[in-house]
Amino acid sequence: MSYQLATQAVHAGEEKRKPYGALTTPIVQTSTYTFTNTAEILEFMQKKAANDPQRRDEYGRYSNPTQTSAERKIAALEGGERALLFASGMNAITTTLLTLLSHGDHLVMVTGIYHRTYDFANRFLPRWGITTTFVPIDDPDALAAAIRPNTRVIFSETPTNPYLRVMDLARTAEIATGYDIITVIDSTFATPINLQPLKYGSDLVIHSGTKYLGGHNDLLSGVVIGADEILTKIEAARGVLGGVGSPHDAYLLLRGLKTLVLRVERQNETGQRVAQFLERHPAVHRVYYPGLTSHPDYEIARRQMSGFGGVVSFEIDGDEKKTSLFIDRLCLPYIGPTLGGVESVVQQQALLFSIDPQERRQAGLSDNLVRLALGIENAADLIADLDQALAAL
Ligand SMILES: Cc1ncc(COP(=O)(O)O)c(C=O)c1O
Repeated sequence: MSYQLATQAVHAGEEKRKPYGALTTPIVQTSTYTFTNTAEILEFMQKKAANDPQRRDEYGRYSNPTQTSAERKIAALEGGERALLFASGMNAITTTLLTLLSHGDHLVMVTGIYHRTYDFANRFLPRWGITTTFVPIDDPDALAAAIRPNTRVIFSETPTNPYLRVMDLARTAEIATGYDIITVIDSTFATPINLQPLKYGSDLVIHSGTKYLGGHNDLLSGVVIGADEILTKIEAARGVLGGVGSPHDAYLLLRGLKTLVLRVERQNETGQRVAQFLERHPAVHRVYYPGLTSHPDYEIARRQMSGFGGVVSFEIDGDEKKTSLFIDRLCLPYIGPTLGGVESVVQQQALLFSIDPQERRQAGLSDNLVRLALGIENAADLIADLDQALAAL
């Protein structure tokens, strides 16, 4: 029987009958798993050699039952064969790229994505002889032209951080067809509720589980979803590189996932209302939200996504100081660098990015840019708060 996302978010990945008759999946707080005798070890090793998914746990760096439940739930939500959890979103990204790329290989990466992902491709991968060509997200011809015989991965993010640009995933998959290329999509801003990249032909989906999937600003996590064949290789790398999260974080993630649909639906609704309010406000210079017809990728977003998310970026009609004044006058949102949780969080992106104005400009961040990550508070309360802060400018 196939269930809708809201039902899967609650039930998928978890055993109906859990230890002790507990309703919730327990936190298996252990670093290792013991064997009764040598025969049990030999049986385990045989299953491991056959890559049997039903094999038992061995050591905490390789797997943990709480983590496995969260992985199965996320795989179900994304419609993927398997998912793998990591200690953070960046850990998921770096382990995946290090698995898929070898010395002499080439990566094509979209510009304007999360700056640490860009950093990894720009500053770290060249040290292992891996080169990257950066292409604009809205230029399929540049993407096609960037492909070389040694290109192994196309990496993008959609929507991007912080300008909410949207990649045409079907077109990207079409361009990669016929090459030995894996397309990897960081779908953190979309969540599986708004977009399922595998349905558009992407090979791997990545999330910072720290954001919407966890949803409560209380954990760090990353996840990769895709076909078993590729994930088995990434799993082997995770076991060596050691980027596993804790069983306790896996539990918090499982708990957060149960309300993912409710939270994201609310955040979509509030995002649209807030974006429309800001677009009409004379103290706002420009709004970036894929649910607005003024957004350059509106048509792609409408076709590809079922909701536009809870992040709204916008520029205040004024300079750095005026923008800081606006941020400091807000009462409800916390000031800080995350998104996707139940509490609204706001930041003047350029100031937290770098103290050096030139570096900010190189990264394409204007001093008057605000990234507002909406939580699940009442939309009218949030709009009233924005209104009073804007009125003071
Ligand atoms: C789109 C995107 N991907 C990845 C990451 C990294 O995730 P984490 O902070 O969990 O390492 C972030 C963090 O902000 C992000 O916004």
